[in-house]
Amino acid sequence: MSRAHKKLEKNINLMAVWIVVVVSLAGLVELLPLIAQDRYIEPYEGIEPYPALELAGRDIYIREGCYGCHSQMIRPFRSETERYGPYSVAGESVYDRPFQWGSKRTGPDLARVGGRYSDEWHYVHLMNPRDVVPQSNMPAYPWLDTAELDGAEVQKHMRALQRLGDPYTDDQVEGAPAAVDGKTEMDALIAYLQGLGHARSGR
Ligand code: HEC
Repeated sequence: MSRAHKKLEKNINLMAVWIVVVVSLAGLVELLPLIAQDRYIEPYEGIEPYPALELAGRDIYIREGCYGCHSQMIRPFRSETERYGPYSVAGESVYDRPFQWGSKRTGPDLARVGGRYSDEWHYVHLMNPRDVVPQSNMPAYPWLDTAELDGAEVQKHMRALQRLGDPYTDDQVEGAPAAVDGKTEMDALIAYLQGLGHARSGR
C-alpha cells in the first residue's frame, strides 16, 4: 500500500473529501450527456408530439399497465424485423415521457401495431380478447368503453409537456378539450394504438 493510500484510509476527513470529489465527477459523467441530448437526438422524420386524443390514450395505456406484458422496442435482429417491421430508433421516442420500450413480452411488441388492425378489431379485442384470439390470455378492459375523458385533465397534461419543451402550439393546447369532447377512454386508447410506429413502418 502506498503512503498516500495509507494516509487516505486512516484520515476520515480526507476520505470524506475524496468521496465527495469522486461522486461529483462520476455524477457529472452521467448527467452531462443527458443535458445535451436534445442536440444529438432529433425527432425522427414525421414524429410529432401526440395529438390530444392519443396523448389521453397513452395515459390510459400506462394507467392500465399494458407495458407489463407489451414492449415497444423492436431490436435490430432479423427475427424481430421480419415479425414486427423496421427496428426502433431513439428519434421515434423523443416525445415519450416516460418511454414505453420495456422488455417484458407476454404479448407481442406494439411499437408498430398502428394500422395493422382496424379500429373495430381493437374494440372487440379490448372488450374481450378471446372473441378474436381464442387462445389469448390478455385481460379484458370493458370499463374503458363507458369511461368518458376529462378534457381539462388532458389539457393540463399537454400544457405541462409544452413547458418541458414539446413543440405543441397554443392552439393545440387550447383545443384539447374540444378534441376529446364526448370521447371514451376506449376511443383514446385505440387512437393511441393506431398512431404507433407509422414514421418508420411506412403504413
Ligand atoms: C397479462 C398480459 C397482458 C396485458 C396486461 C395486456 N396484454 Fe395485450 N396481449 C397479450 C397477449 C398474450 C397477446 C397476444 C394474444 C392476443 O392477441 O390477444 C396480446 C395482444 C395484444 C394486441 C395485438 C398485438 C398484435 O400484434 O397482434 C394489442 C393491440 C394489445 N395486446 C394491446 C394491449 C393493451 C392496449 C393493453 C392494456 C390495456 C394490453 N394489451 C394488456 C397480453 C397482455
